[in-house]
Amino acid sequence: MRNALRSKVVLAALVAVAGTMSFAQNGEATYKAKCQSCHGAAGTPSPAIAKMLGVKPTSDPYMQKLTLDQVESAVKNGKGKMHPVTGLTDEQIKEVAAYFKTLK
Ligand code: HEC
Repeated sequence: MRNALRSKVVLAALVAVAGTMSFAQNGEATYKAKCQSCHGAAGTPSPAIAKMLGVKPTSDPYMQKLTLDQVESAVKNGKGKMHPVTGLTDEQIKEVAAYFKTLK
């Protein structure tokens, strides 16, 4: 009986870990497909893009201060020179914004 309970607890923990992992991975995949070209692989744009479009690296204090909502809004509605990013579901926007916030 005790063992059965323990394996259920382990299973629940595994499911929880797998859940958060896939969340981060989806956000990362969307970032690579939809944001990387301008924002760079790890959140720092290439010098040419940074100069041409004025994209700040995610390490910039201004970018660090943006809330999750502000990141989602930039993706959905665009911001300044950034056009809205099309072809994403609300779920994907949430995931990619969360991933964006992990970039330092
Ligand atoms: C075509 C190039 C391009 C793509 C693709 C792009 N961005 Fe941007 N992004 C920009 C530019 C340019 C700015 C700076 C806008 C400005 O301040 O004029 C910007 C700014 C931002 C900002 C700051 C918004 C603010 O409030 O100042 C966030 C957050 C952001 N981008 C997130 C994303 C995410 C997430 C994606 C992918 C889903 C993405 N961007 C895709 C060009 C791009």
